[in-house]
Amino acid sequence: MSQEAKKEAVTIKLFKDGPYLVEGVVNITTVDGETKEYTNPHLCRCGGSSNKPFCDGTHKKIGFKG
Ligand code: FES
Repeated sequence: MSQEAKKEAVTIKLFKDGPYLVEGVVNITTVDGETKEYTNPHLCRCGGSSNKPFCDGTHKKIGFKG
């Protein structure tokens, strides 16, 4: 029997004029090669976050539409 870990599907939701919500547990690897596990992270879709890849609410300040 396989010992491979079961992979759970994640769902990505787009918020109008806001971030992506990744529903589930995911590993995110930064450009520096550091990988961390996150549960239900909100990812920046507007490009304005000071804490990329995460949303920090800047989309509201800059009036992001999308
Ligand atoms: S989507 Fe929220 S800061 Fe970019």
